[in-house]
Amino acid sequence: PRSEDGSTHTLEIIPLAFLLLNPQGTHIEFFAKDFDPSNPTVSLERLNLPIDQIDVTYLAAGEFLIPGFIDTHNHAPQWAMRGLGQGLHILDWLDQITFPQESKFADPAHAKRVYSSCVDGFLRQGTTTASYYGSVHGEATKILADLCLAKGQRAFVGKCNMTRNSPDSYRDASVENSLQVTMECIAHIRRIDPNAELVKHVLTPRFAISCTNETLQGLGQIAKENPDLPVQTHFNEAEQEILATTELFPQFGGSEADLYEHYGLLGPRTILAHCCHMTEHEMKRIKDLECGVAHCPVSNMTVGGGFMAAPVREFMRRGIKVGLGSDSGGGFSSSILDAMRQAMIASHAREKMTEGKDKSLSIGDVFYLATLGGAEVCGLAEKVGNFEVGKEFDALLIGTRDNPGIMTMVEDGDDLGTIFEKFIMTGDDRNILDVYVRGRLVKGRPMETA
Ligand code: GUN
Ligand code: FE
Repeated sequence: PRSEDGSTHTLEIIPLAFLLLNPQGTHIEFFAKDFDPSNPTVSLERLNLPIDQIDVTYLAAGEFLIPGFIDTHNHAPQWAMRGLGQGLHILDWLDQITFPQESKFADPAHAKRVYSSCVDGFLRQGTTTASYYGSVHGEATKILADLCLAKGQRAFVGKCNMTRNSPDSYRDASVENSLQVTMECIAHIRRIDPNAELVKHVLTPRFAISCTNETLQGLGQIAKENPDLPVQTHFNEAEQEILATTELFPQFGGSEADLYEHYGLLGPRTILAHCCHMTEHEMKRIKDLECGVAHCPVSNMTVGGGFMAAPVREFMRRGIKVGLGSDSGGGFSSSILDAMRQAMIASHAREKMTEGKDKSLSIGDVFYLATLGGAEVCGLAEKVGNFEVGKEFDALLIGTRDNPGIMTMVEDGDDLGTIFEKFIMTGDDRNILDVYVRGRLVKGRPMETA
């Protein structure tokens, strides 16, 4: 739950919960906080549930369920180059490291191999929903969407639009071609997942530096004609990027909010990655236009030359939607657990910078950003983000003891809050025993019912 002004979030830990899925196993049908495991029959009768028709699974000691993690910003074609080129400024990093890597996705076999590892890797780390930037290539982007659907990950998949300021070997052939390939990817994803149960295309102008006036205009038009499609771009990430953007688009006087708004790309379905350097005017615009922020604290402090984390506490206080992004590969880690920890570190720096005005983030705050906050940013809060009745079952079963190689150390007498905190601060994918997306087991053990 959030505080009255929305600026802080407390964690609700329910020691004896009973969660019932619908007969298809996709949605949460019932949730009780007062289940009595020592007398389940009586407990279920009291809850008025048809006990003979329910398969019940009990969690073992030290195990608990949490909502799946949501990664609101990452780059699938950077999977094999995560963490490379740390310390380079953003435009140099793109030229030297990133564009050569992403250009390899012209080859569908390469795309299949890397994207397969990428989707598996995210699922293994508990990322049940991801908003992916693809490469510029249509074929590769369709392959990524196919893989998300086949492997059962909830995903936004975006063909990346780039029509200038990159090498000839890595750019759309023309503005027309850029928009045409985008339309083809949209059609493909609608064909493979007609009700958008898991996968959606996300319009993905890489950032204004990569796009001409005509490209941004064309994408704004597609956004207008397709109100179901989300939009994502990089926004006010680092000084080098902001200066170059201002030079290319002097008419907006350095305001990226005005720039993207002008092209019809800002709205309630827009995910803005980074938002590190924000003027008061830009804060107001993105709030009024209901854009969401993908906070990427790992990449902000390691690559790109920003070393400036977004003012997350300020966003929360203003009611601007915020979630976490791994931004892998600029971010060296694709784990949302790492993003949570780094969000705490970045927030300590902000507390210092603001002389205490922006309090650092708590465990409850970062867990919110990793789950429900991310769902709000992606416009998926009616479907996922927590265990409300009616939502879909995207969940992680966490184990904190007795697993091979486990790093968390739980002691007798630890309450569930302490065990949870130990998992968030010291756990990794070995603690994430089972992963469910829309009720489908995408990592782990088949459910054993008793
Ligand atoms: N800005 C434009 N492209 C990128 C990218 O791939 N990563 C990051 N961090 N910023 C960008
Ligand atoms: Fe990024």
